Amino acid sequence: MTNVTVTVNGTSRSAEVEARTLLVEFLRNKLNLTGTHVGCDTSQCGACTVHLNGKPVKSCTMLAVQADGQNVTTIEGVAPGSDLHPMQAAFKECHGLQCGFCTPGMVMSALGIIARHQGRALDEKTVRQELEGNLCRCTGYQGIVNAVLLGAKNMGVKVA
Ligand code: FES
Ligand code: FES
Repeated sequence: MTNVTVTVNGTSRSAEVEARTLLVEFLRNKLNLTGTHVGCDTSQCGACTVHLNGKPVKSCTMLAVQADGQNVTTIEGVAPGSDLHPMQAAFKECHGLQCGFCTPGMVMSALGIIARHQGRALDEKTVRQELEGNLCRCTGYQGIVNAVLLGAKNMGVKVA
């Protein structure tokens, strides 16, 4: 067993893990942060997306020990207080979810898109391309794309 310490949503968290423990297992099973989902375990669906040092990663594809000493943000940490983050609110407003299983990963990936497009206009084609690593089996995606564009707009990003 190895001790891993990660700053998660702004708080230093430590746990003993096996060398093979995935980051998503550390978050869900050791820290009880179950908002990060496991859909495929094979790096395809994006349900497990979190931010590592501000950038989206699929937490089923990295080991907890690889995150030692680094900063992780999960869906539980995106909104300060009890209000929804503007991107979460946009998903609600645009019906960007049905069962909600993919939604935490979608929101984390959407925030990654926003971060990569600061100072540039964001359009539907770009959103669709950059969400290709996140799968949804319910919505048909249009509501998700609409939500990302609305969330971007409400976060001050220019939308084409
Ligand atoms: S559970 Fe990680 S990509 Fe599907
Ligand atoms: S809302 Fe059900 S998988 Fe996306």
